[in-house]
Amino acid sequence: MEKDSAISGFYKRTVAERRAFITEWAGLTEEEARAYDFPPGVDPGLMNRMIENVVGAFPLPLGVATHFRINGIDRLVPMAIEEPSVVAAASNSAKVARATGGFRAQTTAPIMIGQIQVVGVVDPAAARLRLLAERERLMAAANAKDPMLVKFGGGARDLEVRVLDSPRGPMVVVHLLVDARDAGGMNAVNTMCEALAPEVARLAGGRVVLRIISNLAVLRLARASATFPTEALATPTASGPEVVEAILDAYTLALVDPFRCATHNKGIMNGISSVVVATGNDFRAIEAGAHTYAAFRAREGGVVRPLTTYEKDADGNLVGTIELPTAVGLIGGATAVHPTAKANVKLLGVHGAQELAQVLACVGLAQNFAALRALATEGIQRGHMELHARNIAATAGATGAEVDRVVARLVEEHAIRIDRAKEILEELRRGR
Ligand code: MEV
Repeated sequence: MEKDSAISGFYKRTVAERRAFITEWAGLTEEEARAYDFPPGVDPGLMNRMIENVVGAFPLPLGVATHFRINGIDRLVPMAIEEPSVVAAASNSAKVARATGGFRAQTTAPIMIGQIQVVGVVDPAAARLRLLAERERLMAAANAKDPMLVKFGGGARDLEVRVLDSPRGPMVVVHLLVDARDAGGMNAVNTMCEALAPEVARLAGGRVVLRIISNLAVLRLARASATFPTEALATPTASGPEVVEAILDAYTLALVDPFRCATHNKGIMNGISSVVVATGNDFRAIEAGAHTYAAFRAREGGVVRPLTTYEKDADGNLVGTIELPTAVGLIGGATAVHPTAKANVKLLGVHGAQELAQVLACVGLAQNFAALRALATEGIQRGHMELHARNIAATAGATGAEVDRVVARLVEEHAIRIDRAKEILEELRRGR
């Protein structure tokens, strides 16, 4: 019989019922079905309340990056990510930056933008002025929707109106600028935009379609910089100044070539997103904001910009900077309910969303510096391969001291395969 995915009321079933259903559906063995077991300490009830149709939890490795010093404060940085090398790379960069005092970081005010799109306006330029004339009243109406945010010092800060040409005629787009304080801001901003929509439609003389936050949070930026001393960059085959030049060459390709820029910025997000995930924040929002910001900055040249910059200071040291939108919060969302996210925020020791945003910027810069340094010298595969080989060795059954010996052989032979790992392990155990 053909399988039918149109399961009515799947959401009404219990977690156990859903699990039984999918087990049968996919013909899972008992062992495979156990992969959906909730790990000890994970509350199935909480998971079931967080999203719909829950059948289990999906644990990611959680590592802690060391050596970070940010604005004079030492921090241990939790990172949840499936990719090997990321945590080690961030820690290494932080160690190099520490020699010159660590990272310096700053943020703008946590201003989010909400959009209200009006279509069918016959006089868009005049509509813009009608809306701007009511700016104060509209902002007050927005603030009335979130007295708590206002009480904590946030709320609507400004209202702007843009007129956009489109293939479907002119569109009037209201931007409501909201200080979200320690929240990500999505709920507050969306609620405000929905509340203002009827009055905006009336004033503009058109129909409102979208009422939603923008993930291009150009007014909620985090910035960081660090100096990586030349002498720390020397390798057995290249001097410090040579490595600096090679890193500048590697960085410059991202400036002039979108194919490289995508990978450059991806590497930055390896670090940032893993901290965003570890703190229970919306990593898609941060990714969308970062990559769109990289395109937005292309007004300064190219078609997309690297989120970092590199220069030499007067002494020839490498100075890196980063700037990107960071719409993260500490109140609301998963950050407030997920026990590991809550513990991670405590471990990180940040006291507000802006401090968390500063950490993100520093980790992004650290990650990018590590990638460029590796790419500009020995390449990243050696480090990657060693970690990959460790996984393979363990999967083949190696334990304790056997792991190092199997890894060494796999790397030496450039044959990082499970079948070879098993053969090597057998040889070792037979005493050869
Ligand atoms: C891999 O996840 C990330 C890198 O490709 C980033 C980069 O090339 O800059 C190493």
